Amino acid sequence: MVGAGEVRAFIRRFAELIAEHKDELTALDAAIGDADHGTNMDRGLQAALERLPGETATPADLFKAVAMALISKVGGASGPLYGTAFLRAAAAVGSKTSLEPADVAALFRAALAGIQERGKATTGEKTMVDAFAPAVAALEERLGQGAGLEEALRAALEAARQGSDSTIPLVATKGRASYLSERSRGHRDPGSLSTVLLFQAAAETLAGGSGAGA
Ligand SMILES: Nc1ncnc2c1ncn2[C@@H]1O[C@H](COP(=O)(O)OP(=O)(O)OP(=O)(O)O)[C@@H](O)[C@H]1O
Ligand SMILES: [Mg+2]
Repeated sequence: MVGAGEVRAFIRRFAELIAEHKDELTALDAAIGDADHGTNMDRGLQAALERLPGETATPADLFKAVAMALISKVGGASGPLYGTAFLRAAAAVGSKTSLEPADVAALFRAALAGIQERGKATTGEKTMVDAFAPAVAALEERLGQGAGLEEALRAALEAARQGSDSTIPLVATKGRASYLSERSRGHRDPGSLSTVLLFQAAAETLAGGSGAGA
């Protein structure tokens, strides 16, 4: 069962992983963007932690607080994109206080749809979508095969990692990196790494992992 405690642990772990990888994310963005992805995401998630509502908050309330912080505190492309993702996740869970594995898959599916509607990117364009889309597909596929949530989230994380790796040889056609055209080849997309961290946080917390209930 995934409740508000697990969702809170997930958000905290995502913020922690972003803080730990801030310099790496920024270095990746320095190669093909404007060297701000780590600082952008860290600023947004630290603001989210400050605004997290209290004990009576539902999963949707928690997702909404993150969305608002990301949208208002992150100027770059990633703030509105991840902000939309968290808003859609909130809408997908509605007023539920306890999420079944299928609800978890649905919230990540909705988040991906939000990112794609907002950013108009599909896979193969060297963006966060290259990690997010295969992760959601793997999550759904493993659950469909009867796997438990923990195993399915681990498969999602592995798919996100592979998806992020797949951005390295690609030429960017969306976002700032697209200004470099051929010169964007050979570098990992920074947003694809922040998405790996999001699925890492999910795998570690949502299925009652180490941080659950914190
Ligand atoms: N249209 C898009 N759809 C999906 N993801 C996108 C899009 N544009 C950019 N991104 C993601 O955002 C990341 C860059 O986020 P960052 O926080 O650095 O914002 P930014 O510097 O304003 O972005 P950009 O470099 O795109 O202008 C990229 O690595 C990519 O994964
Ligand atoms: Mg940038």
